[in-house]
Amino acid sequence: MSKLRESANAFIKESQKYVNPRWYPSYHLAPPVGWMNDPNGLTWFNGQFHAFYQHYPHAPEWGPMHWGHARSRDMVRWESLPVALAPEGEEDKDGCFSGSAVVSDGKLCLIYTGHKFVGEPIDDNLYQVQCLATSLDGVTFCREGQVLDTPLGLHHFRDPKVWREDEYWYMVVGAKTQDVGEVQIYRSDDLRSWQFESTITSMNICGGYMWECPDLFPLGEKHILLFSPQGLEAQGYRYRNLYQSGYAVGHWKAGKPFIVEQPFQELDYGHDFYAPQSFTTPDGRRVIMGWLAMWESAMPEKADGWAGMLTIPRELTLTDSNKILQQPVKEMETLRGEPLCWQPGELQDTPFLLADNAEAMEVVLTWDTSRSTAEKYGLRLGDGAQIYIDSQSQRIVLDRHFPEWNLSGCRSVPLPEGEQLTLRIFIDKSSLEVFVNAGEYTLSSRIYPQDHHRSLSLFSQHGVATVRECCAWPLSCE
Ligand code: FRU
Repeated sequence: MSKLRESANAFIKESQKYVNPRWYPSYHLAPPVGWMNDPNGLTWFNGQFHAFYQHYPHAPEWGPMHWGHARSRDMVRWESLPVALAPEGEEDKDGCFSGSAVVSDGKLCLIYTGHKFVGEPIDDNLYQVQCLATSLDGVTFCREGQVLDTPLGLHHFRDPKVWREDEYWYMVVGAKTQDVGEVQIYRSDDLRSWQFESTITSMNICGGYMWECPDLFPLGEKHILLFSPQGLEAQGYRYRNLYQSGYAVGHWKAGKPFIVEQPFQELDYGHDFYAPQSFTTPDGRRVIMGWLAMWESAMPEKADGWAGMLTIPRELTLTDSNKILQQPVKEMETLRGEPLCWQPGELQDTPFLLADNAEAMEVVLTWDTSRSTAEKYGLRLGDGAQIYIDSQSQRIVLDRHFPEWNLSGCRSVPLPEGEQLTLRIFIDKSSLEVFVNAGEYTLSSRIYPQDHHRSLSLFSQHGVATVRECCAWPLSCE
């Protein structure tokens, strides 16, 4: 093993015992110690799921990127593995940036961006090239170096996502051309030599100066272009985070351009969701995981020796109206302990306590909105987080209030039509993920409750709120 990987692994082993567990997730994938951003290389290989991630082990800050690694039989219980890639070659000396994984000839193949400056670290000196590393055992990787150079005139050219279609490999790469984001498509028959095919431009999709982490895959009868544009300005309730993640729906065939049917829509409406990547399960489900954090956010867990985590895996389906539905993968149910269920009933201004200390819990809550007159009603976690229906604006709101970390404010989605509203809520030590009805909206945000400030209750203000169903399960990976 190389020096850099060796020292990363030794450091992790030595220092992970000092991580403060107060906000460390119970059932989400997070780095054993140090920093994590994008999920990378999500794949199935030799009977296990593999998840890699952008990782700087030596400090809870972004730094020269390594690839962290974990594997799982069920996508929900993860085993941490040694660091897979470290920035140790000419081609990736300043970082092993995001990428993907495929299985070819019995090998697990990682295709990632080598990030390097030639001279001072300024944009004009930046080169991003695509690289390959392969493994027979899925744990130790052999670096095979650069397989695609930066196109002439470009500097930002990263995050390859590779897939197989008939007899070829295809790859999408995010690029910035004259301050405009786009996606380039390449083709190969051996993963080592790549030919340019075409470009998907921002025309009819959305703007942005750079599109990161593209992914192109079939869903139902159509194709989804998933990507994370930088540089969209907030518009009303939309695009409220520093950077966005979302998708366009269209049609694509090898060798043909991507035809847009539905321009960009956001995938998640919480404060902390970025750079999702998709993969398929052996039984054919299309699943994504995303980074459950946001660039330039405070991430108070840094004080505890770690930073960043991934969302739970979410299965995607597409509706006839070109909307992606996201549902937690069914394996999430295997984490459930004994259920707690409450009688249906009405609440009126007096809160109803569900749990004294909700640390790792799933809640399924159905409101009868047609029989609820309250101005505001919902679920409250301690004094820092609320998920409620605002009857005046007709929106579902996720409100977090952690002023000590400068993390306060709301995100919201429209209240869907219908007499009932079901919210499925995943609570972990420092996160909330809300799935609305059949997954037509999700909201994912980080939260930082102080110790013993995690009581979970239902509330209503100024009127009646009618609960149809309310069940909760403690969640555990043990
Ligand atoms: C997205 C991203 C990628 C890049 C990686 C670097 O969050 O900026 O474009 O490859 O993170 O860590």
